[in-house]
Amino acid sequence: MKVRSVHLGLVGLLLVLAAQEAPAIAVPGPQCQKQCGGVDIHYPFGIGDNCSRSGFNVSCQEVQDGVYKPFLGDFELLNISLIHGTIRELNHISTYCYNSSDGGFMSSSTWSFDASNTPFRFSDVHNKFTVIGCNTLAYIVDNTDKGYQSGCVSTCQNLSDLADASSCSGLGCCQTDIPKGMGFYNVSFDRGFDTSQISRLGLGGCSYAVLMEAAEFNFSTTYINTTDFNDTKIGRAPVVMDWAIREGTSSCEVAKRDDSTYACLSSNSKCVVSPNGPGYLCNCSNGYEGNPYLPDGCHDADECKNSPCPSGGACHNTVGGYRCSCPVGRKFNQRSNTCDPDTTLITGVAIGFFLVVIFSSFGYMILQKRKLNQVKQEHFRQHGGMILFERMRSEKGLAFTVFSEAELVKATDNYDKSRIIGKGGHGTVYKGIVKGNMHVAIKRCALIDERQKKEFGQEMLILSQINHKNIVKLEGCCLEVEVPMLVYEFIPNGTLYELIHGKNQALQIPFSTLLRIAHEAAEGLNFLHSYASPPIIHGDVKSANILLDSNYMAKVSDFGASVLAPSDKEQYVTMVQGTCGYLDPEYMQTCQLTEKSDVYSFGVILLEVLTGQEPLKLDGPEKQRSLSSNFLSAMKENNLNAILPSHMKGQESNELIRGLAELAKQCLDMCGSNRPLMKEIADELGRLRKLSLHPWVQINAEMIETQSLLSGTPTASFEIEAGTTGYPTQEGENLPMNPRSSYYAR
Ligand SMILES: *[C@@H]1O[C@H](CO)[C@@H](O)[C@H](O)[C@H]1NC(C)=O
Ligand SMILES: *[C@@H]1O[C@H](CO)[C@@H](O)[C@H](O)[C@H]1NC(C)=O
Ligand SMILES: *[C@@H]1O[C@H](CO)[C@@H](O)[C@H](O)[C@H]1NC(C)=O
Ligand SMILES: *[C@@H]1O[C@H](CO)[C@@H](O)[C@H](O)[C@H]1NC(C)=O
Ligand SMILES: *[C@@H]1O[C@H](CO)[C@@H](O)[C@H](O)[C@H]1NC(C)=O
Ligand SMILES: *[C@@H]1O[C@H](CO)[C@@H](O)[C@H](O)[C@H]1NC(C)=O
Ligand SMILES: *[C@@H]1O[C@H](CO)[C@@H](O)[C@H](O)[C@H]1NC(C)=O
Ligand SMILES: *[C@@H]1O[C@H](CO)[C@@H](O)[C@H](O)[C@H]1NC(C)=O
Ligand SMILES: *[C@@H]1O[C@H](CO)[C@@H](O)[C@H](O)[C@H]1NC(C)=O
Ligand SMILES: *[C@@H]1O[C@H](CO)[C@@H](O)[C@H](O)[C@H]1NC(C)=O
Repeated sequence: MKVRSVHLGLVGLLLVLAAQEAPAIAVPGPQCQKQCGGVDIHYPFGIGDNCSRSGFNVSCQEVQDGVYKPFLGDFELLNISLIHGTIRELNHISTYCYNSSDGGFMSSSTWSFDASNTPFRFSDVHNKFTVIGCNTLAYIVDNTDKGYQSGCVSTCQNLSDLADASSCSGLGCCQTDIPKGMGFYNVSFDRGFDTSQISRLGLGGCSYAVLMEAAEFNFSTTYINTTDFNDTKIGRAPVVMDWAIREGTSSCEVAKRDDSTYACLSSNSKCVVSPNGPGYLCNCSNGYEGNPYLPDGCHDADECKNSPCPSGGACHNTVGGYRCSCPVGRKFNQRSNTCDPDTTLITGVAIGFFLVVIFSSFGYMILQKRKLNQVKQEHFRQHGGMILFERMRSEKGLAFTVFSEAELVKATDNYDKSRIIGKGGHGTVYKGIVKGNMHVAIKRCALIDERQKKEFGQEMLILSQINHKNIVKLEGCCLEVEVPMLVYEFIPNGTLYELIHGKNQALQIPFSTLLRIAHEAAEGLNFLHSYASPPIIHGDVKSANILLDSNYMAKVSDFGASVLAPSDKEQYVTMVQGTCGYLDPEYMQTCQLTEKSDVYSFGVILLEVLTGQEPLKLDGPEKQRSLSSNFLSAMKENNLNAILPSHMKGQESNELIRGLAELAKQCLDMCGSNRPLMKEIADELGRLRKLSLHPWVQINAEMIETQSLLSGTPTASFEIEAGTTGYPTQEGENLPMNPRSSYYAR
């Protein structure tokens, strides 16, 4: 087999760019061509004289009729990138062909590429030395002192192996990386490699080797039986070159010092060290774009073109940057480039809202309070509080208090049910503590009419001045409320009613005690009737309104709600008030309340004392229901004993019982004018008591026992003491139960 070796050895035309004297910076004039063959030519690249920086001379050549292409030396220029400092150009493919008709005579056309004296270096990042062929070994050689030599082998024993080879990985195709900084290479095929396979497999193509842009290469099995790439026109592949300003300098610091050569002319530009090979590049500062190699070439970049802001946000371009803004209620988060909910705004709004709520409710409260105060003052005025105040100021030393509503609410635990100690037609009575330790009974009146309202203050004034030992003291009142409240001293030991008809009925009360209480009550009522003119009429005299203090002394209560005797006719028409069984029949007819009405009611109390029976027996036969009518009919029949309790008969002096019955009868006279005055009643009771005081019953040993049973009140010791001492010093004023007149249930 004859082997003729034809070595074509085409040497790639060098990029003849002699490093000339460093020229003064030639800024391309307006005459310079900006484009060629659709490729933008940016300075430092340029076409023609005085348009490019040294080493970047581009020629625009007509390749066909009217078709121009830019060339850098012999190589067609595809792209210029200022930002990345790269260009792409078309590189020659080296071939090694098999002539089957010639019995295997091989011809090769290998290219070398020398850019070592230019600003260009082969990009080690983008390029790969790529070899196609069956049983082909190709070398890539650098001519530098480093002695770089590399290569790759592509084999194919069996064509069926290739059927599934789709990547360039050794079967029919191989690739290898190149080092940084390469500016020259020479390709050669290994002739010693066995090529008999090619004829055996019946292939008629060539082997190929080229340094090219890896991203642009896709291996195809058709490549191994083709001669297409043996064409110098078609047999081209893109290669990426890194360029830089490499004029004898490698550091930016040094380059900046020489204004005449420093390439980064734009004010907003910076110097960047070349990533491949010596020298430097220029780049626009952050936020700027344009050509850093031209004066004023870097201009503000409109970053908003690329919509860098999160969706929903607005982009605002600024000189050298941009700003994102988010919709109301959201805040731009630079780190995550999102529109986050604006917590400060939300908190701000929340706080603001909160404050508004607080202030408005505060204001509302103040308004309400003012309103309430106005209502209170209105009530106070209506109830004659001003008159009361006036008088209280003028009459100093008046022991009368005008309480505020709040004080009484506090005193009664907000009118707690457990504080109720009495309920009646006039209202409800609560127990309370005012001024720290003063026990009082607070009466909340039922509704009163307009007339009463107006005179209430005046009435209070008069009532407050009443100071009698047998009348419950009025300590004060509260005028701020719609219906005034009265504050009385607290009387601890219940009422005469309870004493006569109460649970302790089994323990008979000494008659003399009852008599004394009646006498004291009469004194109290007499005081009321004679105190002022017109007289103060109680209006609701009954045993339940005769309270008993700790010494079992009588205290007439509940006069506060009664009215001063009306002085003109219009005022007669008042509501019939009082309690059934005690009501003056004349008052019921005339509706005119007089002091004699009180006398009638007192007569009924005398009957209770005398008989121990209730004024109305609702469960008895109809005719005997009313105690007073029972009594009067018994008196008429001269049969008093019929209504007297058994224990009375024979135990009290006949004279006393007779006198009391007679007094009661006078009080119960149907005609008011025939009834005695309260003063007369009091005097008569005083006289009768003296009869009772006659020491005719001996002290019984059991008495002391009973006394202690009865007590359980703070007065126990006193009573026992009184009981044991026996003789009262005075008329028994302070002696609740006169032992010498006691009688006991066995
Ligand atoms: C280029 O510049 C030089 C010096 O400024 C000048 O002499 C020459 O005529 C210019 N050439 C062209 C083509 O403008
Ligand atoms: C640039 O290239 C053109 C064409 O190749 C040539 O005529 C011209 O002299 C060159 N200029 C420089 C400055 O190298
Ligand atoms: C490179 O040039 C080609 C053809 O001229 C063009 O299609 C391509 O978009 C360019 N690429 C870049 C990155 O400029
Ligand atoms: C120039 O700046 C751009 C944007 O900042 C960056 O992407 C690019 O890599 C820079 N170029 C060089 C050569 O540093
Ligand atoms: C490849 O091209 C060269 C030069 O153009 C030529 O001499 C040779 O015969 C070609 N080989 C094949 C296999 O086409
Ligand atoms: C192949 O070899 C034959 C015989 O030597 C010759 O005539 C022919 O031109 C060759 N073909 C190529 C493409 O070189
Ligand atoms: C090629 O491979 C196929 C299947 O692997 C095999 O059958 C055939 O013998 C092989 N041919 C050669 C020449 O090795
Ligand atoms: C390229 O390599 C071949 C073979 O090794 C050699 O003959 C040729 O001179 C080389 N070319 C250059 C430019 O070094
Ligand atoms: C290779 O190509 C030649 C010419 O086109 C053809 O005759 C031959 O059959 C092909 N060989 C294979 C294995 O496809
Ligand atoms: C290579 O192949 C991939 C996927 O097969 C395709 O996306 C890409 O465009 C191809 N590249 C070239 C240069 O044909």
